[in-house]
Amino acid sequence: MNTLSEKPVEDLTGTEAKAELKRLAALIREHDRRYHGQETPLISDAEYDQLWRRNSEIELRFPKLIRADSPSRRVGTPPSGRFRKVAHRQPMLSLDNAFSDEELVEFEARIRRFLARQPEIEAGQGIEMTVEPKIDGLSASLLYEDGKLSLGLTRGDGRTGEDVTSNLVTIKDIPAGLRGKDWPELIEIRGEVFMTKPDFAKLNQSQEATGAKLFANPRNAAAGSVRQLDSSVTASRPLRFFAYGWGELMGQMPVGQIEFLHQLETWGFKINPLTRLCSSIEEALAHYHTIESQRAELAYDIDGVVYKINRVDWQLRLGKVSRAPRWAIAQKFPAEQAKTNILDIEIQVGRTGTLTPVAKLQPVTVGGVVVSNATLHNRDEIERLGVRIGDRVIVQRAGDVIPQVVEIVIEERPPEAKPFRFPSRCPACGSHAVSEGDDVAVRCTGGLICPAQRVERLRHFVSKGAFDIEGLGRKQIAAFWKQRLIESPADIFTLAARERTQELNLANREGWGETSLSNLFAAIDRRREIGLDRFLFALGIRHIGQSTGRLLAINYTSLENLLRAVDEAADGQSEARRELEAIDGIGPKVTDAIVDFLAEPHNHKIVTELLTEVSVQDFRPPADGSPISGKRLVFTGHLESMTRSEAKARAEALGARVTGSISPKTDYLIAGSGSGSKMKKASDLGVQILDEAAWVALINPK
Ligand code: IVH
Repeated sequence: MNTLSEKPVEDLTGTEAKAELKRLAALIREHDRRYHGQETPLISDAEYDQLWRRNSEIELRFPKLIRADSPSRRVGTPPSGRFRKVAHRQPMLSLDNAFSDEELVEFEARIRRFLARQPEIEAGQGIEMTVEPKIDGLSASLLYEDGKLSLGLTRGDGRTGEDVTSNLVTIKDIPAGLRGKDWPELIEIRGEVFMTKPDFAKLNQSQEATGAKLFANPRNAAAGSVRQLDSSVTASRPLRFFAYGWGELMGQMPVGQIEFLHQLETWGFKINPLTRLCSSIEEALAHYHTIESQRAELAYDIDGVVYKINRVDWQLRLGKVSRAPRWAIAQKFPAEQAKTNILDIEIQVGRTGTLTPVAKLQPVTVGGVVVSNATLHNRDEIERLGVRIGDRVIVQRAGDVIPQVVEIVIEERPPEAKPFRFPSRCPACGSHAVSEGDDVAVRCTGGLICPAQRVERLRHFVSKGAFDIEGLGRKQIAAFWKQRLIESPADIFTLAARERTQELNLANREGWGETSLSNLFAAIDRRREIGLDRFLFALGIRHIGQSTGRLLAINYTSLENLLRAVDEAADGQSEARRELEAIDGIGPKVTDAIVDFLAEPHNHKIVTELLTEVSVQDFRPPADGSPISGKRLVFTGHLESMTRSEAKARAEALGARVTGSISPKTDYLIAGSGSGSKMKKASDLGVQILDEAAWVALINPK
């Protein structure tokens, strides 16, 4: 469906152009819908861009034929804007993945290290975990207040979901009221909505019979059915639900995961019948292999197995790392593979200039998903595989990971297969492309003159963890960039003003709806105030991801403080540099990255311009009112009741900053047994010293 007509634009007749504009408008609309509706995209970004380009070229030649519904005339609010957005009371987390038994053993070892001071762990006992299939559906969060279902949300971005209550209540596995009396005052119940394989086949048959669109796989069918505007359509779809967890809970905490699952059953939910409580890692892995061996016969799709530490008190101690709990992990099934041809190899330029070769494939279904692009990773990988354009190859797809080319089928190499020469210049800006040291990545040296890097940075700037502006996603940024309306972050915030002074005249010239424009401007305005952690992440500085951004925010509180410290460090003031590097989790690499970034005049300009448009809010520690919120802590010596990593995680969750060395700014030194030089330094500087009992009392106030 994504094939382009081959005829050059110059040769098109008026009638042909008209027909093609119609086809392109429908095609682009369909791809937008799939993209925003979380269905599997059928084409790559590059192919999508090509459709756009062709549309613009034809419009340029035949301006009279521009359609009212042309993609060039809208920036578009995603259709997902249709449902009310509601914040989850507790975020819906995702899971870390393991891809082998060894990685699972490593997970268990990590838990043991973290909980090393627990008597059961010290005694070498097995760790109990629940082991259950990972259902390939879509997760939902159901809020029950006084036992009554009051709200049903999709996962959304994990913090905010869409209100699909009226659709979820039509699912028979979801009780409108909890059975019995033994329920908490308020609880968010989490689980997976899915469709069985036979039900999916039947649904597609009837879709076909009525000429309606077909679904690619059961997961898409389930997702499409839940996100229906008309709940009678949802009601007609054979949806099911397995419950597996909770979010907010006001009432009695369960003692174990398995006890909770049994409780869910008494309330009227279905839980997955393959769920087991295993008492050791060996037993857990054995159950994984049992589930794996039954996979093909199961009535529903699963893409792995989820392991959860059973003890809820341990779950609470383990907490989470950014968006995933430390106490759970998914083990994915080995990847699925398929054979196809490489039609071409393209080079994509990333945000930091990395050139990534991407194989354009003859579309092929791999484990139920149509794949038309696969990554070749880097120059070395192309050499290692010895891949040529035209080769027959095996591609593989594992879960949500980008499909990759794993090997070539040399016996089936066609005679015309063409070797690929990795470019020595950036395809986007023509600058030299080089690899430094032992880094396998080949990078464009064009920096800010490279349009590809700039547009990728902008895309990063508006991405979910960064400014996250509603209605301004990757696609819209690309469209604005193409029209040269947004070239740097500050331009986003001056759009409305430029529109008012008629400089852009978007409303008339581009033919946007008044409403979609005012929605966009309102969404942009809502982000004029932004938290320091998000702001730092949004800048796209190398090595500064979400958690490092947060770490800097916790430690410096305000942008002003941080910029001053970076300035001083750049000036060679070793005290400022030492302080940055002393933060547990920062170190010299990050320090260099941020110093270098701001030393670049262009970056400095971007930040300065941006600051005339947005105000960066000081970091507010999450647990206001906690006695260590905003305090600087140093740990030393050996703690009996918890490991150093747990102590640090607890401190940070309560809003404290943890550093490695004592300075006059340190608030507390927490000294376990065997503390040495730090004790002396602390008392010299008058820093308050806490022993373990005082520390435990501090974080567990009565
Ligand atoms: S537990 C904090 N259990 O997998 C734990 N998730 O990659 C979070 N999923 O968004 C989830 N089956 O949609 C859990 N038995 C299961 C699951 C499951 C499927 C999905 C869920 C979640 C995603 C995380």
